[in-house]
Amino acid sequence: MSSHREQPVRRLAAPDITLRKGQTPVVCLTAYTAPMAELLDEHCDLMLVGDSVGMVVHGLPNTVGVTLEMMILHGQAVMRGSKKAMVVVDMPFGSYEGAMEVAYANAARIMKETGASAVKVEAGPHITETIAYLVARGIPVMGHVGLRPQAVLVDGGFKAKGKAGEERRRILEEAKATAEAGAFAVVVEGVAEGLAREITAAIEVPTIGIGASAGCDGQILVTDDMLGLFDWTPKFVRRYADLRGEISRAVGKYAEDVRARRFPGPAEIYFAKAG
Ligand code: KIV
Repeated sequence: MSSHREQPVRRLAAPDITLRKGQTPVVCLTAYTAPMAELLDEHCDLMLVGDSVGMVVHGLPNTVGVTLEMMILHGQAVMRGSKKAMVVVDMPFGSYEGAMEVAYANAARIMKETGASAVKVEAGPHITETIAYLVARGIPVMGHVGLRPQAVLVDGGFKAKGKAGEERRRILEEAKATAEAGAFAVVVEGVAEGLAREITAAIEVPTIGIGASAGCDGQILVTDDMLGLFDWTPKFVRRYADLRGEISRAVGKYAEDVRARRFPGPAEIYFAKAG
């Protein structure tokens, strides 16, 4: 008799992603729900439960209003829907920028309650020590430099960053400090190609670009943007589908059928048993 048991699929983890530096580009997308995670899982190395969920799913104007509870709820859904891809959960605004102990408690809560493999933080000189603190205590951290959506109220909008001068130098230094503090990968958002390439050459962990050119070690997009669910998307998004149009056509057809009593039809109803 065979005692063969099916091997469980091993999820990718932080060291697997770090080893991809300079290799085949790392494929990443955002995910917020179980069914979408199930669809993305076979194609993606890493799924980010981004705090963009606040804007994409909850209709918020920016990510500042996103709470720890929202991130945990969506993190749990994405973990339930996936088996193979590494799942990273964003730490929301206000959950990690103060005392390191508070950042640790919040990050540990995300890890315990979702089962995700890492958290992501928007980097900066005030966060570098916190990254080292979390990593030393067993929490893999992904950094995020360049355009930092949680700083939108200070920056006055979602604008590309580091096109020249002091800001360019600062972003390069922030990326280096983030990697040196122990981040396993760094998201580079909304920067010119030259700076993205310079950061990629300067740090030992993969850069994951969004609006940062093909010079990065991997790419990420907001899934709903690349699927064409919004009528406006930033310049750096390539639309791989027009789901907005598809949904509108499908729902329009359904409404017509209901109004004309064409739905439900004989195939879609139950019949009483004969006799
Ligand atoms: O929140 C998010 O979706 C992100 C990605 C755009 C990188 O941070």
